[in-house]
Amino acid sequence: MQPTAPIKPFFLDVDAADRAALHTALDQILDTSTLILGPYTDQFEKEFAAYVGTKHAVSLNTATSALEVQLRLEGVENRIVGVPTNTNFATVAAIIHAGGEPVFMDMDEKTFMPRLSHVEELLRAQPLLAGLMWVHIGGVISPDMAEIASFCKSNGLFLIEDCAHAHGSVLDGKHAGTFGVSGAFSFFPTKVMTTMEGGMIVTDDADYASAIRSYRNQGKRAGAYNALHVDLGSSWRLSEFGAAFGLRQLAKLDAMVARRAVVANIYVEAFKELGIQYVDFSHMTAASNYKVIAILPEHLTLAEAKDAFASEGVILGGGVYEIPCHSQPVFQTLDLCGSSFPIAEKYCGRQFCLPITSGMNHHEANRVVEAMRKIFSR
Ligand SMILES: Cc1ncc(COP(=O)(O)O)c(C=O)c1O
Repeated sequence: MQPTAPIKPFFLDVDAADRAALHTALDQILDTSTLILGPYTDQFEKEFAAYVGTKHAVSLNTATSALEVQLRLEGVENRIVGVPTNTNFATVAAIIHAGGEPVFMDMDEKTFMPRLSHVEELLRAQPLLAGLMWVHIGGVISPDMAEIASFCKSNGLFLIEDCAHAHGSVLDGKHAGTFGVSGAFSFFPTKVMTTMEGGMIVTDDADYASAIRSYRNQGKRAGAYNALHVDLGSSWRLSEFGAAFGLRQLAKLDAMVARRAVVANIYVEAFKELGIQYVDFSHMTAASNYKVIAILPEHLTLAEAKDAFASEGVILGGGVYEIPCHSQPVFQTLDLCGSSFPIAEKYCGRQFCLPITSGMNHHEANRVVEAMRKIFSR
């Protein structure tokens, strides 16, 4: 009998038709010698903007640089930016690279992100707060998102969104990336869709979009091939082949998200049955289900759970996030950790994320659930 293959948290969703289209695209790119900022990039940006429902989308080499560009455009130098402690290192590092001073917000144990009350509290504690770098953790848009956006507006705070987890996430008909002035998506290989490496900023603001085009290309405001450097930009362009890759992925993004939803819903039913606390996404029109975040039962540590699942042929991937940013060594040395974050400290190390990919079907999801039942009942 064939041994059953382990269920892994990563799947590259590229089928035979994608391969053929990518070979053709590569030939076209080589034939024209247009390796960057050509027709694939234009088309990818147009189609991504249409998908999200914004007037503009500008591609970059990573979401990390996309976050930094958004912050630079908000002029965060020497100003305070609120950010959840439960996020990726990149979100916080981008604030520092843009010259800002991150101040962390704790999270709510139900949503794994700050609530409106955390934002209100932050503004009381930091009256000089310039704005927020919001994060749709695991692809979940906060049930408070509309209130947070209007609180920011009425208090003169900018709101920019880290949508690295949130391709295809929609709340009340609005896509992630459309609640603030702009949102940044990641196309890193493990994300809901990929361009191998890449990022995208979406916005309705035409001036903002042309400034992003300048920042990603060494600060050339007057166009890619002009000699004047006006902004302190960098080399943050996406390749034409990355854009061709992104176009194929975008064309099937809804189908990939739908397959993730099948798996996510099986997990949710199992969590309910086993009495496992998880981050609810049922208030959303659609969730990317990049991660379905759940809390381990008291008797298991995360390391023990990972080993137990591995011995059942189920590989748990990276969680979001085992170590909150205020506890990361690099941010400790920057003296950014004055406050306490009891909820993040209590729950981050206890969260776990079952494997979820667009390559999984309900049989595999059920195998994962069987493994979970066995492990949690020990
Ligand atoms: C929340 C979040 N923000 C930003 C990033 C950075 O994305 P990239 O690898 O495209 O720079 C990541 C990547 O994992 C992320 O998870």
